[in-house]
Parts: sequence; C-alpha cells; structure tokens
Amino acid sequence: MFTEVLPAKRLYVENSIPAFSREEPFANLLMDLQTKGWSVQDDFFSTDFTQALMDEAESIQNVFMLQAGVGRKQDHQIVLDSRRDYIQWIDPDKPVRVDFLKMMADLRVALNRRLFLGLFDYEAHFARYEEGAFYEKHIDAFKGESNRILSTVLYLNEGWQDGDGGELVIYDENDPSIEVGRFFPKKGRLAVFLSECFYHEVMVAKRTRHSIAGWFRVNNTTGSTLDPDQ
Ligand code: OGA
Ligand code: MN
Repeated sequence: MFTEVLPAKRLYVENSIPAFSREEPFANLLMDLQTKGWSVQDDFFSTDFTQALMDEAESIQNVFMLQAGVGRKQDHQIVLDSRRDYIQWIDPDKPVRVDFLKMMADLRVALNRRLFLGLFDYEAHFARYEEGAFYEKHIDAFKGESNRILSTVLYLNEGWQDGDGGELVIYDENDPSIEVGRFFPKKGRLAVFLSECFYHEVMVAKRTRHSIAGWFRVNNTTGSTLDPDQ
C-alpha cells in the first residue's frame, strides 16, 4: 500500500516575485475606464506572479470552497439556476494573497488619484467553475443599492482555446441586449468594469476555469450601521 505524494509546490515568499513587468501597469486601464467604463488588459501582472496565483487557486480543495450564492449576508441565496461556481474569499493570510491584495491596493490608489472614484477598499475571492458551470447574465450592483463600484476579474487559465467555453461576455451599458465584447478567461487577463453599469455573463465552461473576482467599494458606514466586510 502506498500513499500518493503530491509534488511539492514552491513556497511563495512575500515580495519574492515582481508583480508587474511593465513600467506603467495601470495606464491603459485608466484610459479605458475614463472613455468607456470597462477595460480588458492582457498580461496585467508578471507571468511568474500570475503563475503563483494559479498555484494557489489550484491548491484549494473543493471542500474548502463555498457554493457561490447571490446576494450578501442575510440576503444570500444559493440559486443554482443562475450560477454554478465555487468560491473562497481572499484574506491576507498567506504571502501570495497578501501580495495580490497589495497590488490591488496600488491600483485602488491610482484609480482614486486619476479618476476620483473615492474607493475605500477591495474584496476578492478565488472562483472555480467546474465543467458545466456558468454564471448567467447579471449586474454586480444596482444603482444606489450597493457599495460595489468597480468589478475586477483576473483569469488564471493556461492554454484556453476555442471550444473551451467559459467566455466573459460584456453587454452594452445603454442596451444590455447588445454584446460589446467576449473574452476567453486566459491566463494573465484582467477585466475591469463599472459594477452598476455593465451586465455581463459567464458562458458554460467546458473545462475547469479559475479566476479571481473582486470589487472595489466605497464605504457605506453611517452613524448607526457598520458596513459589513463581505
Ligand atoms: C462574478 C462574475 C465573471 C467571470 O463573479 O460576478 O461576473 O468572468 N465573474 O468570472
Ligand atoms: Mn459579475
């Protein structure tokens, strides 16, 4: 009898890999957001840093992921008709997660400086779509009802091909029946869009699909209610 020995993954050490390989990683993204409200950037992070995130995503066993639901906290419902992905929220409890959140905090500062969005924080989760999973057409925030301002999705999948499905489809801001873009969830690609403005959809994945979805938020804390963190 023998037990299976998994190959040891390199242990990621904080700041051990430069996160960006470009001089001005945010320039095109900021320009797109300013002009059309959404942006898709390839190779947003360095190849090695993206790989470290993929290693982390793949290392999470399904039992440690949640069946994703719709709505937040007490409104939370699992609606299998509308989405079928598994998620795990990202806390700064491991070096690669700390570094990812730091990079997104840098982006948050750039967004605030250049576009005056007043973004207060960022929440994100790993998402795993197994074969057959999808997320039907939806919007991440309803006007005035949510503090989610800007949605981000970083894709982590090597060698995604025609026929693998799982594309992100973005619809027109003024007429959500019109498709404005369709994107493979390919490794290193980052999609960003205004949460209240763009309906979008994940087509049925024909193979396992990994990503990190996140939201930049404004602070809705008032004198009597504390803004929940998730
Ligand atoms: C979401 C979402 C899109 C994607 O998690 O809200 O729309 O491409 N994800 O994974
Ligand atoms: Mn969404």
